[in-house]
Amino acid sequence: MTGTAVELCPGAFHLRGFLPIETQQAVFRHCVALMDGPVPAYVPIVRGGGRMHVRMLCLGRHWNGKLYRYEPSRTDFDGLAVPPIPDDFRALARKMAAAAGMALEPDVCILNHYGADGRMGLHQDKDESPASLAAGLPVVSLSLGDTARFLFGGVRRRDPVESLGLESGDAFVFGGPARLRYHGVSRILPGTAPAVLGIQGRLNLTFRQYDT
Ligand code: SIN
Ligand code: MN
Repeated sequence: MTGTAVELCPGAFHLRGFLPIETQQAVFRHCVALMDGPVPAYVPIVRGGGRMHVRMLCLGRHWNGKLYRYEPSRTDFDGLAVPPIPDDFRALARKMAAAAGMALEPDVCILNHYGADGRMGLHQDKDESPASLAAGLPVVSLSLGDTARFLFGGVRRRDPVESLGLESGDAFVFGGPARLRYHGVSRILPGTAPAVLGIQGRLNLTFRQYDT
């Protein structure tokens, strides 16, 4: 693994150019096979009835967007059992966390595909177990494809927000005192993906540890 780590604030690290292009290709192909496989990605409809602006597939545990909690099967969509997290994905997540000086045994992986108009509003990741949140176990994210304008704020919604570009191959890790910081994706920059990947839009993988 390559690249440089920038610590934005205590516990939040942007690891630019973390994943070599060959590994990006392999991870991307694996994600496509999963998202178009027997348990396909779908567009979640959240509490209040709004459609999310991503296509999502959860591995390990399913995040129910109507109830904002994790479950073993997709009771808010098609009832299918959640596929496991591939071992190579788990190994990759451990390495990303370690590069930021943190430990993680991921039991949740969420794949989000953003099209040209994909986005995600400012939110906290707080549906993991109270013990996991209290321990500050990190959220570890890997970006592939088009660059995202990623927003990273404070622990209150009204806190000032920093905007950074997450490019293909970048990792972003937030744990410890940064674990409950607000974050989101304001826009995707179409056409910025490395051509060899053949990605339309952006694919993001986030890893978390629900159980401690
Ligand atoms: C998320 O917050 O769950 C996804 C963030 C991203 O797509 O970078
Ligand atoms: Mn999030």
